[in-house]
Amino acid sequence: MDKKSGVISEILNEPNQIDHLMEKMEPFRRLMMQYQCAILEVKTKLEVLNEELTLQNNINPFESIKTRLKKPESILKKMKKQRLSVTVDNIEKNLHDIAGIRVICSFPDDIYTLVDCISKQDDIIVCEKKDYIANPKPNGYRSLHLILEVPIFLTAEKKYMKVEVQFRTIAMDFWASLEHKVKYKKDIKNSDEISKELKQCADIISLIDQRMQQIKYEITENNDVKS
Ligand code: GTP
Ligand code: MG
Repeated sequence: MDKKSGVISEILNEPNQIDHLMEKMEPFRRLMMQYQCAILEVKTKLEVLNEELTLQNNINPFESIKTRLKKPESILKKMKKQRLSVTVDNIEKNLHDIAGIRVICSFPDDIYTLVDCISKQDDIIVCEKKDYIANPKPNGYRSLHLILEVPIFLTAEKKYMKVEVQFRTIAMDFWASLEHKVKYKKDIKNSDEISKELKQCADIISLIDQRMQQIKYEITENNDVKS
């Protein structure tokens, strides 16, 4: 098998396909290591912005940041779903969410500040931007998704890696966690009713986010006038 781009699909029929992928496939492990490095790069960039903006405005633009590397099981599932042969090259070319970062902010305007700042950095390429805050999904889902390309510097090469970054408010994250649970739970009674209820909650949450942001503006404006 060609080490770099060998077809891995025959492994899929074996019982311990995931173990094979992880233990035997050196190129696969190397690719995962590179995505892990890309996560570190983007996470650091966001933390640097958080430090500076906190010092400037006395309020931190994000509450928390979570990272995850897509599990081999999920990679195989997604490749199968897209009817692609499972090669290391195909994985890298077709899956853009192997490296994932979720940034949870208090207020919607902090999301746009962070997105603007990171998108302007001269070593970052914005491959895709989906603004589900300005254009929510029909089910009520709100978040802003970026697919970024970031360079990682290895011993013998500089390589651009894709990283998916999702930005949400605390309230949007609360909603998305419950909606995700509902989506993957089978045999739910009244599922239409629950979807309607969730959509209504998403709209209420959006209003609350806007009102909380307004309150924040009023507090900071008053403080600015006083000082
Ligand atoms: P996939 O990457 O295959 O999901 O398709 P896509 O690239 O068209 O998806 P998109 O960028 O819209 O969303 C990617 C990720 O956002 C998903 O994997 C979820 O983590 C999250 N997401 C998108 N839509 C929803 C939704 O309706 N509910 C919840 N809870 N999460 C969502
Ligand atoms: Mg995606």
